[in-house]
Amino acid sequence: MVDRMYHELPVAAYTSQEWFDREQDRIFSRVWHYAGFAEEVSKPGQYLPVQAGKSNILIVMGRDHRLRAFHNICRHRGAQLLRTTGKVQQAITCPYHDWTYDLEGCLLTVPDAETEYPSGIDKSGLGLKPASVGIWRGMLFVHPEPPDQAPALEEWFGAVDSQIGSAQPTEMTEIPFMRKSYEVKANWKVLVENFVDVYHLAHLHSATLDMFDHAKAEYGWHGPHFLIQEPMSAMRGGRRSSGEPGDSSSLAGSSPCFFPGIAFVVSDYFWSTFIMTPLAPDISHVETRTKISPKSAWKFLREERMSPLALLGGRKAKVSRAEAAGRNDPLASGDVILEDIYACEQQQKSFASPFFEVGPPARGESPVIEHQRVVLDYLR
Ligand code: FES
Ligand SMILES: [Fe+2]
Repeated sequence: MVDRMYHELPVAAYTSQEWFDREQDRIFSRVWHYAGFAEEVSKPGQYLPVQAGKSNILIVMGRDHRLRAFHNICRHRGAQLLRTTGKVQQAITCPYHDWTYDLEGCLLTVPDAETEYPSGIDKSGLGLKPASVGIWRGMLFVHPEPPDQAPALEEWFGAVDSQIGSAQPTEMTEIPFMRKSYEVKANWKVLVENFVDVYHLAHLHSATLDMFDHAKAEYGWHGPHFLIQEPMSAMRGGRRSSGEPGDSSSLAGSSPCFFPGIAFVVSDYFWSTFIMTPLAPDISHVETRTKISPKSAWKFLREERMSPLALLGGRKAKVSRAEAAGRNDPLASGDVILEDIYACEQQQKSFASPFFEVGPPARGESPVIEHQRVVLDYLR
């Protein structure tokens, strides 16, 4: 049987374990991964474990205030050294047989060394294996390769970096209640391809993103990365010009989507992260976090319990409460993310139908096809 195609990729690329495994190997184990905000590892002894494809990587700040990354694998028999985020004092001790490493990754002590290793043990060759860590715009990124082999982080973001303004998340404050995790029943590429699909913005999000003038969107690819920038719609921009939080005049946003699945929605005023991570062929994890500046705006949001996108417009929904399919209809939620998740999950379900066949792509869907080509390039 000929593979059914979804533009450039077979439908199996979105459903099969074989494709999932190849992507883990050839994409997710070979690129820079988003790990969090820089302040999460900003004191000696603070650490953060991150899954990067097939590797679990530990970011830790040394006593010298330098950030280092190591593979989170004990050099004895491979137990995971540290699990959740936290702070260790001087050293990292493996829970299995208590081998202990210093914050610079050197093996310090091996319990009962005289009796257990009567002919001696050379600790100097048993330090933690180095990975790479870097900071870009106040966010931590890790790469499974050691520093002399990982590609330069600045180069990875280079072409897009110069086009997204000067906003620095470091100077912004995180809104804790806007940190959200979703387990989405869709392949990670469905999520990314939804993010880069310009065609759907005026339709699925007809109410929730109507503050942007989608017809004037400028978008394109820079190597494996995508960038879209949209002005505010004239109606919105003209109506609000108070200079107060909620003023839309400076809010026209950029949304870069770095490969693979690392998306941001940014303006001078806020910085939202939207990280899409594959868990299984048909399950992905999405985490969103938002920082906002200045502090007055943060207070405003807290009082209103609003999404920063709501700052730009109102809380309108595509489908009215009267027409909603039940109380939790995502299309009646007025929440952009729930609208997207709904569309992605329904699409993933359709892949299983023998009647699924993709229609001709619209102009605004050209980034979807381009993303599929980027994926193919990595898998070759
Ligand atoms: S596996 Fe870590 S001490 Fe044995
Ligand atoms: Fe969307």
